[in-house]
Amino acid sequence: MDEKPHPANEKEPAAVSDEKRLEEERRVIDGLDGEILRLFNERLGVAARIGEIKTRLGIPVRDTFRESQVFQRLMNINQGRLLANRYVVRVFAALMAASRDVQSSDPRPSGGSGTPDIFAVFGNPVVHSLSPVMHNAAFAATGYNGVYAAIRVKDIRLAVSGMRALGLRGASITIPHKESVLACLDYIDPAARRIKAVNTIVNDAGSLKGFNTDCDGVIQALAEKIPIKGRQVAVIGAGGAARAVAFTVVGQGARATIFNRTREKGEALAADLGVDFKPLTEFSGEGCDILVNTTPVGMSPQRGDTPIPAEKLRPGLVVMDIVYNPLKTRLLREAEAVGCATIDGVTMFVRQGMRQFELWTGLPAPVEIMRMAVEAELLAAP
Ligand code: ATR
Repeated sequence: MDEKPHPANEKEPAAVSDEKRLEEERRVIDGLDGEILRLFNERLGVAARIGEIKTRLGIPVRDTFRESQVFQRLMNINQGRLLANRYVVRVFAALMAASRDVQSSDPRPSGGSGTPDIFAVFGNPVVHSLSPVMHNAAFAATGYNGVYAAIRVKDIRLAVSGMRALGLRGASITIPHKESVLACLDYIDPAARRIKAVNTIVNDAGSLKGFNTDCDGVIQALAEKIPIKGRQVAVIGAGGAARAVAFTVVGQGARATIFNRTREKGEALAADLGVDFKPLTEFSGEGCDILVNTTPVGMSPQRGDTPIPAEKLRPGLVVMDIVYNPLKTRLLREAEAVGCATIDGVTMFVRQGMRQFELWTGLPAPVEIMRMAVEAELLAAP
């Protein structure tokens, strides 16, 4: 009887050649990796020479302006290529940290090569959070020995106990835990207490302290466009974000009016904060200097929606949207078209993240790099 070849022993010619091809392609990768490594080291050699010049000139090693120029240039050159800009940010953030290491004899800002400080964002859902890419880019860019992960948390009380037990250095808190987390902490910053929401925990030698850096984000983002004091601010919406925005601008000496779709919710928030309320349909733009959208209207996939009709916008108004996906919402596009100054949601998000980074590490935040990491991630999203 004829012996039939066993399929496992008999290799198809195509499979054989694919195996060969795989080997060949891997050899190409090995060659390229060697070349990349050689170029990286060559780049570090140049960085070392620049370090010597900086020392002679008496200027600091770190130049955040130059760093952001380098990133911007790389991302422009790279536009449309196979390597997504989110990876360009990661690779070059690490490379710049290495460059600073060779330029400086100072020890690295955190535990060096020891165990990294661990950070997380607790939320549910949390998979789309942009905090991990933003903070990991900041760690890489500053050489801070930290790692940051997104953790889906159902029970915030258990998560905070876990944070204590594991010694996490800090955490971001997001939907739906910003309010309920207050009961789990040892100290709450007065502004966070008044807003009734914590978005940041700092583990200060075992004592868990809660802050609300959304306030800092709002102040920073607005103050870059307009002095807040004495201005009339229209806050669109009456949820947690509206509470943080209205509380913050009033604290900075502005007057706020809550405009909300549902009267009861809007009135309750306005009464609690001691500000005015009007139904959303009554927004006319009259006498208003700053408009902040805190509703999800216009967020992807409902990109065609806007909370305020274009005809109610006028030049001179500063329009801020906390929606960051898309980066330019319909509200912001229409506001720009009539000549308003605009602030996008990424600006606000990055500004609140800056404050978190500073609270956790004590280092100045590399804001441009954080922004680029977030933008690159948003652009890479389907
Ligand atoms: P958060 O706490 O994140 O701010 P929230 O508590 O869900 O979110 O609040 C969302 C706000 O957006 C609410 O004020 C909501 O208005 P209602 O109080 O009328 O529900 C507002 N909002 C959501 N969708 C809206 C829409 N399509 N048009 C107008 N306002 C909307």
